[in-house]
Formats: sequence, C-alpha cells, structure tokens
Amino acid sequence: MYTAAVLTVSDRSSRGERADGSGPVVAGMLREAGYQVIDTAVVPDEQEQIEAKLIQWADGPAPALIVTTGGTGFSPRDVTPEATIAVCPRLTPGIPEAMRYASLRITPRAMLSRAQAGIRGGSLIINLPGSPKAARENLEAVLPALEHGLKMLLGGPADCAAETK
Ligand code: MTE
Repeated sequence: MYTAAVLTVSDRSSRGERADGSGPVVAGMLREAGYQVIDTAVVPDEQEQIEAKLIQWADGPAPALIVTTGGTGFSPRDVTPEATIAVCPRLTPGIPEAMRYASLRITPRAMLSRAQAGIRGGSLIINLPGSPKAARENLEAVLPALEHGLKMLLGGPADCAAETK
C-alpha cells in the first residue's frame, strides 16, 4: 500500500467561501485504489504557499504520491504548475501528456490545462485541474500506471518487461 497526500489549491476554498469539492473526490479515488491518504490541505493560489506545502510533505513524511487539484488554467492566479516545476528536480512529462490525451476525447478544453508532474525525493507530485469532474477524469487516466512508477521510484524491484498494466 502506498501513501498519498492531496493538496487543494483554491483562493475561495482557502478563505472558506466555497467548500472544497475536488479534494475529497481525489482522496476518495485514491483510497478506493488502495492508497493510504495521510494528509490533505487547502492553500490559496499563491506560488510560495503551494511550494512550501509540497516541500513540507515531500521532505517530511514523503507520501509516495502527492496530488494537487486546481490552479492549472490560464487565469493570472493559476500558478500550481510553476510551483510544481520549482520544487521538482525531475519532471515526468508523460503523466500530464497522458492526462491531456485522454481528456481531449472528453472535451477540447482539456488542452487548456497546464498541469505538470515531477519527482521530489521519494514523492511523485501530479497536478490535476480544479473542478471535481475534471480532477476525476484526469486522475482516472493515469492511476493504473502509477503503481509501477512508484515501485521504481521507491527502489523496489520493478520488472518493466513482466508488468504490462
Ligand atoms: N480535463 C477534463 N478531463 N475535463 C474537463 O472538464 N476542463 C478543462 C481542463 N481539463 C477539463 C479538463 C478546463 S475548462 C480548464 S480551464 C483546465 O482544465 C484547467 O483547470 P483549472 O484551472 O481548474 O486547473
């Protein structure tokens, strides 16, 4: 069982003006897939605060998977991708490529997500869009492949030839 943490990035939710819809959806999907969700948090669309929380988690309890939701669009305050790039020494572009590829079958607006993913220490960080629907659709597209990646990341024997799922 891998550990996970979920970060909701939203000005309005962080001020308590709107309930966090997507964070619980993402956490529920992860639990259903067998992850142990060890922490969740809500921060405003402030790059420094997003980076600080990602670093606190990755350099602390180091959940195998950190999923963010929100702040990947074009609004001037959408800076989650920039925060993710800033804290990840290694990017994993195939993950957002797969999310956009799958999502484009659902809506042409999928191309408007600037989501990134990358690795900091023993944590894989993945950005999702902010609406519960979009977050679910994007996470569904990549969840099946993640376990194999986490196995490699965390140093376990991962046989790429034997495991095809
Ligand atoms: N991806 C899927 N699968 N479904 C969606 O409804 N919405 C898009 C896109 N990706 C969407 C999606 C829209 S409208 C935007 S603006 C971007 O995600 C960024 O969303 P965010 O600003 O909430 O992060």
